[in-house]
Amino acid sequence: MASQDRFLLAGLMGYPVMHSRSPKLHNYWLAEHGLKGVYVPLAVHPEGLVAALRALPALGFAGCNITLPHKEAAMAVMDTLDPMAKRIGAMNCVIVGKDGSLHGCNNDGYGYIESIRERYPDWRADAGPVVVLGAGGGARAVVAGLADQGAKEIRLINRTRARAERIAIDYGAPVKVVDWADRAAALGDAAMLVNTTSQGMAGHPPLDIALDNLPISALVSDIIYIPKETPLLAAARVRGNRTVNGLGMLLNQARPAFKAWFGVLPTVSPELRAMIEADIG
Ligand SMILES: NC(=O)c1ccc[n+]([C@@H]2O[C@H](COP(=O)([O-])OP(=O)(O)OC[C@H]3O[C@@H](n4cnc5c(N)ncnc54)[C@H](OP(=O)(O)O)[C@@H]3O)[C@@H](O)[C@H]2O)c1
Repeated sequence: MASQDRFLLAGLMGYPVMHSRSPKLHNYWLAEHGLKGVYVPLAVHPEGLVAALRALPALGFAGCNITLPHKEAAMAVMDTLDPMAKRIGAMNCVIVGKDGSLHGCNNDGYGYIESIRERYPDWRADAGPVVVLGAGGGARAVVAGLADQGAKEIRLINRTRARAERIAIDYGAPVKVVDWADRAAALGDAAMLVNTTSQGMAGHPPLDIALDNLPISALVSDIIYIPKETPLLAAARVRGNRTVNGLGMLLNQARPAFKAWFGVLPTVSPELRAMIEADIG
């Protein structure tokens, strides 16, 4: 555990940052573990990113999370990067070393896999074909996590096919690109369906997909967490599929960051989840 001869500091660097639940989450864990410190929102414009990151050691920060629009640009400032961040092509966390060096990592794929395991401990990535919709930053993390866990076939389907093809090139097997027009047919023998598009998020139209072909045994997950139950998850639940929303991904990606900064691996307790759910409304 980090020494308490100084006040512990971490934060979220991005722009905007005020909407984030990360301060609530990390400050809950700091209090839970009796650690004196604070996790703060750090509103940093792109032109200030390099200076802000380089200032972290001098200010005594243990590190920070990185969010939009800095997830890719911050990588160039790091002294070292973990293989997962390199693979995903984006980072969401900085760890300040004892020598003041900056290490970049990406815990989103880990958070996604943990979110499934905490709900369904027997879940296996290699149970059958996984259909992933979307090819943005969220998809890159989810696909990396699934591939790491041994998924044998990931059918990647995006409205803009070229973006999915970029991921297939970067990741290689087991990613297979399928046309957006064929998304319903691709569900036929799927063991899992994951939505990583922004469709179904509050303020956006529902995801346009017919679930008729999807086996009832398939697990349906959506990385969106506002609303807690997207129209996709509601439709899947009504027809009898197991479902997981995106809140667990958000909560679980934070755990290894907290451990790296402060020396304790925190847990996602029912109380913590309820507090964040109440905040989301
Ligand atoms: N739970 C978590 O911790 C977590 C983490 C990351 C992201 N998320 C959520 O995941 C969602 C996506 O985030 P992101 O960072 O991956 O965003 P992104 O990089 O902007 O990607 C957006 C994705 O949505 C697709 N899309 C947008 N409008 C569409 C439409 N009308 N029809 C079909 N597809 C459409 C895009 O397809 P095109 O390529 O064709 O534009 C793209 O694949 C957001 O709701 C975000 O909040 C959650």
